[in-house]
Amino acid sequence: EMAQKGGYSHFMLKEIHEQPEAVKNTLSEVSDIENIVSQFPQFKRITFVACGTSHHASLVGKYLFEALLGLPTDVVLASEFEFSEGAIDPDSLVIFISQSGETADTLKALKIANKKAKTLAIVNVLGSTATREADYVIFTRAGPEIGVAATKTYISQLTCIYLLAACMGKNRELLDELQQIPDYMKTVLLLEEDIKEMAAKYKDAQDFFFIGRGFSYPTAMEGALKLKEITYIHGEGYAAGELKHGPLALIDDDVPVVAVVPPGKSHDRTLSNVEEVKARGARVIGLGSEDDQVLSYEASDMIKFPSQIRELISPLLYVVPLQLLSYHMSVQRGIDPDKPKNLAKCVTVE
Ligand code: AGP
Repeated sequence: EMAQKGGYSHFMLKEIHEQPEAVKNTLSEVSDIENIVSQFPQFKRITFVACGTSHHASLVGKYLFEALLGLPTDVVLASEFEFSEGAIDPDSLVIFISQSGETADTLKALKIANKKAKTLAIVNVLGSTATREADYVIFTRAGPEIGVAATKTYISQLTCIYLLAACMGKNRELLDELQQIPDYMKTVLLLEEDIKEMAAKYKDAQDFFFIGRGFSYPTAMEGALKLKEITYIHGEGYAAGELKHGPLALIDDDVPVVAVVPPGKSHDRTLSNVEEVKARGARVIGLGSEDDQVLSYEASDMIKFPSQIRELISPLLYVVPLQLLSYHMSVQRGIDPDKPKNLAKCVTVE
């Protein structure tokens, strides 16, 4: 097992560090994706269906498809699909996202959707059930993922979604920009030592909030899921603007807030929420551009990203330190992050 871990103490850590490679390999799928897109009829709407981390990739898909393609896009949890299938019609493309391609909830929804619309599965495991049942299939090239927590497969799913949007929108500029992601990701991974120290500072908190708006909202959700899954600490991912509609009552100096604040449209609004939670005593871990002096000033701890990373592509990079933060807190709390209790890598029950 030590050999399989390639010198890393856990599969999860190895898989986090494999992410630049996973993006690169998935980017090489572009000609397959172009080919699939050339077979598409004129779709009028898109629905994404998935569970867990794959659901968070779907949420990014919604913001991206709406921003770039102007197509109405829904996101439905696979376990809710049978109660919410009404909006699907023959002009819809229903996109299923699944690492394993075997998740029971997702397969059940795929069966229902196949009767009503065209289906596309974005899957990491070759030959899995979802790849046999969907009309179109795109493979994420993350390689096998052993850790129960999805890391590199999430990044590969996002890469596929960005490629798909770029191909459907004939957006050369985005395709070029995506080529730079592996290098940016290597830069972000260099933050690991700082994040390890941060983990030690925050690991005894009992509740966390993760906040973001727009493209950063799914990143906040995913950060909170990783936290719950491998550290057993309660974490809530929230659209930053919703705090004032209830959860602000929970904020005090015992509840750290992780704020995802890349440069762009959502920046100033989320920053005002950072001020709001600070006024209630919360310590804030800010994720933002290296030249964001206001955020640096407001945050107790700051995770800095290259300033070229704009909001639209930020989900591919801003989630990486959150994976590392949960990983190190998990290890520091004496938990095995590869095998969290009560969870399975592939959930084959409904
Ligand atoms: C993520 O860390 C989890 N292991 C879980 O939420 C997972 O993403 C979910 O069960 C969906 O699995 P799938 O992608 O294989 O369908």
